[in-house]
Amino acid sequence: MAIERTFSIIKPDAVAKNHIGAIYNRFESAGLTIIASKMVHLSKEQAEGFYAEHSARPFFGALVSFMTSGPVMVQVLEGENAVLANREIMGATNPAEAARGTLRADYAASIDENAVHGSDAVESAAREIAYFFSAEEVCPRTR
Ligand code: PPS
Repeated sequence: MAIERTFSIIKPDAVAKNHIGAIYNRFESAGLTIIASKMVHLSKEQAEGFYAEHSARPFFGALVSFMTSGPVMVQVLEGENAVLANREIMGATNPAEAARGTLRADYAASIDENAVHGSDAVESAAREIAYFFSAEEVCPRTR
């Protein structure tokens, strides 16, 4: 088992509905450790930069508009196979297809407003973590 880090966002819809604590509980109950965390209200430029790989897709404008519509929580999760573990906790991108008991099944209303983001690979996790956090803001456990 590899100890990995992954990057997570609790999106504006879930923050607005006061689901931060419930979602953090899911991460911790699954054995993931939150080693960095902050609330941010993304600018248009920050959201466009973060989702740059999707800039040609038809939903890009709506995605940027949604992600800037209110504050988000951004966090770094650490644990065994953290990238895949977080993707399993989140469930499918489209909540209509998300397995029971996953975050998107429980907290997301639609594919456009789907409650959480999680990195899809160790490499993208490293890039996404660096997009939001300095090295000093990441605090692995010492005990
Ligand atoms: S998919 O389903 O394979 O296209 O999704 P993916 O390429 O992994 O990520 C697409 C990101 O855009 C968000 N988004 C949408 N995806 C598909 N269709 C629609 N209409 C849509 N609207 C928004 C989707 O949630 C992915 O963002 P993150 O933040 O990674 O969840």
